Amino acid sequence: MTTKKWWKEAVVYQIYPRSFNDSNGDGVGDIQGIIEKLDYLKELGVDVVWLSPVYKSPNDDNGYDISDYRNIMDEFGTMADWEEMLAEMHKRGIKLIMDLVVNHSSDEHEWFQESRKSKDNPYRDYYIWRPGKNGTEPNNWEATFGGSVWEYDEQTDEYFLHLFSKKQPDLNWENPKLRQEVYDMMKFWLDKGIDGFRMDVINFISKVEGLPDGEKVEGKKYVSGHQYFMNGPRIHEFLQEMHKEVLEDYNVMTVGEMPGVSPEEGKLYTGEERKELNMVFQFEHMDLDTQPGKNKWHLKPLDLRDLKKSLGKWQSELEDGGWNSLYWNNHDQPRIVSRWGDDKEYRVTSAKMLATCLHMMKGTPYIYQGEELGMTNIKFDSIEDYKDIETLNMYNERVVGNGEGPQEIMQSIYTKGRDNARTPVQWDDSEHAGFTTGNPWIKVNENYQEINAEKALDDKDSIFHYYRKLIQLRKQHEVIVYGSFEMMYEEHAEIFAYTRTLGEETLLVVTNFSGNTHKFDSSIDLKYAELLISNYEVAEKEANSFELRPWEARVYKI
Ligand code: GLC
Ligand code: CA
Repeated sequence: MTTKKWWKEAVVYQIYPRSFNDSNGDGVGDIQGIIEKLDYLKELGVDVVWLSPVYKSPNDDNGYDISDYRNIMDEFGTMADWEEMLAEMHKRGIKLIMDLVVNHSSDEHEWFQESRKSKDNPYRDYYIWRPGKNGTEPNNWEATFGGSVWEYDEQTDEYFLHLFSKKQPDLNWENPKLRQEVYDMMKFWLDKGIDGFRMDVINFISKVEGLPDGEKVEGKKYVSGHQYFMNGPRIHEFLQEMHKEVLEDYNVMTVGEMPGVSPEEGKLYTGEERKELNMVFQFEHMDLDTQPGKNKWHLKPLDLRDLKKSLGKWQSELEDGGWNSLYWNNHDQPRIVSRWGDDKEYRVTSAKMLATCLHMMKGTPYIYQGEELGMTNIKFDSIEDYKDIETLNMYNERVVGNGEGPQEIMQSIYTKGRDNARTPVQWDDSEHAGFTTGNPWIKVNENYQEINAEKALDDKDSIFHYYRKLIQLRKQHEVIVYGSFEMMYEEHAEIFAYTRTLGEETLLVVTNFSGNTHKFDSSIDLKYAELLISNYEVAEKEANSFELRPWEARVYKI
């Protein structure tokens, strides 16, 4: 039996503040801009906002490089603005979870400024410093944003570790003083009244002692070292300590971002009696359209059977005692309707289908800004228009460095680049989509006259109103939150169908991940079933079988 918790019943909405809404015309989204749109979120019906980082940052990685954990970035506003935002959210019954980025800080953080000064500085061990090996880097690991994970620092003639950019030095979790600083900082925000944390790459914080070399790859100087820092040796100890020192005293929710986590490990992280985290963001399903063993830029079409197998395994593994988070999108992923739906002829229908499939599974659903509008990927002709450090570093390394042809690489960027998710939210059909009166920091998608919030609110058949209905259904039917999950038709290449069961109640969820028509045969008699939601008109009650139209979704309650 699954225990009842408020965060299991909730739907979370992610705000990426830079691209959400600009209140003062400088082209950058900000906190007052968020406040302006809270009634919109209230209308959608979400319970929780996850706010991507708004702390002080030089923005090497758009706020995921923090130089002061206890203050607000000037571009976004002031602490007073932030407090006003929290109060306005709470007034509307919306909770707030903040991003906690503590695998690394910015190199401009005071701790790092001190740390680099001398080997006996009190902050030296807040970071991971090593002497060089044979005149070169201490090991051969490759950074996520390219090059070595090591940066040489002349002042002390040592290297510091950075799993991401060289402006994001990794914090040293082996140091109990550093851990205490993090816990104190968490309490600082919790005492201001926030409702939890989303924890950035939190399964990277424990590194294997000795930081051994990764397995060599022919022709490559730097290689993946992930087995030495993903789900490392002390990770469960650190999370349990954090729980005991901080989280235990607050009724809050936590979700850990965890690349490379398996369902078996997911169960350990989220098992209730283990007192670590409430849920994790896993990436297995996000990697299914990548060639095996390669990085994300090496494309491969999705086989729906892989998706069902992966999500199905997570559903069953976390059935007892654990909990899933459900997402198609975030600020690092391409737009789902462009990725696994049809963003042309069936944009509206396929966006609704994808939403249905996700929100009816067992777990807490997340909506990423603009997903509720069916916003699509972006194609800029010129690399000059891209802003994301990951995209730009990859392009430079391969096109400028390796002399590869840009064409194929642009195709990868169109399909997988993080800026797909980061173009401004399209609010209306005025210039710059109503996001800003100034010059947007990144270009608006040209389709804003067709796809925007104002239009969606006016159209009762819009994707927005469909999401609203899905959220309402969650409040009305316990089976959506707590029912157990069972996959149907595992071998079917285009239909994704499952049931959810709680006591006497059963939900049947049928979705078509294709533009083809399929006959659906149900072993369940649907004559007396209630159709809870569908993205097509369903004329009359049909018995055990029906024609599933392109990208159709239906949910029956039996
Ligand atoms: C996480 C964030 C991503 C960021 C990285 C480094 O994956 O979601 O945006 O670049 O961590 O902080
Ligand atoms: Ca602004």
